Amino acid sequence: MRTKIIVGNWKMNNTIAESALLARDVLSELGEGFSGCEVGMAPTYPALQAVGTLLEGSTLQLVAQNCHYENDGAYTGEVSARMVKAAGCSFVIIGHSERRQYFGETNATVNLRIKKALSEGLKVIMCVGETLEEREAGVTGAVVSTQVREGLEGVDDISALVIAYEPVWAIGTGKTASSAQAEEVHDLIRTVLVKLYGEAVASEIRIQYGGSVKPSNAAELFAMPNIDGGLIGGASLSAADFAAIIKAAAEC
Ligand code: PGA
Repeated sequence: MRTKIIVGNWKMNNTIAESALLARDVLSELGEGFSGCEVGMAPTYPALQAVGTLLEGSTLQLVAQNCHYENDGAYTGEVSARMVKAAGCSFVIIGHSERRQYFGETNATVNLRIKKALSEGLKVIMCVGETLEEREAGVTGAVVSTQVREGLEGVDDISALVIAYEPVWAIGTGKTASSAQAEEVHDLIRTVLVKLYGEAVASEIRIQYGGSVKPSNAAELFAMPNIDGGLIGGASLSAADFAAIIKAAAEC
């Protein structure tokens, strides 16, 4: 039985004070002892500590939006896995499509980041997903399979891995994949995992859906057999909407 997991990806939104306010509001919507499903929040780096302090004593987890594959050194603008771990994160998002699209991330750099994060004891949310052109060209399956295979190259133990399937055309656009469209790709991802790691391991891995999830479509998506929660962007910036999505997952 896979526990559903909902993570709010705040992207480049909110100052430290605004982040703290949002975290406080989410906590008060859910109650500190909330245990219906696994929940995380991914603020910007400067806000990690403030949000982490607020989450202490709750079941909610602190998540970083990215991390570098070197420990330290001359990498201006980057933050390493051991730094986000020391800031209190238990999870890190790696390979988000915005990283791939705007910051030159490739399957190879995603793979390096995943290996480093896992070796530092972080749990990883690896994002995969096709663009609109790829979907229209009928290569969704090939693209997503390659992202999974290359992202996990040389990773022997995936027990600390979550995969987020996020079709690029659905992110921040208001266009959600239908639950059937999403389920088809989630099923394909699990088949790739079965080939790589065997049935027993693959059946335990959570696969989140991301891309314009909102309170009105969350329950239908989370009811699908291979959709194990969501990576939530825009809707996670509203405590009420985020809490409604979390409750939809908890009730599935
Ligand atoms: P969205 O973003 O919910 O705003 O579409 C999802 C994501 O990018 O993780």
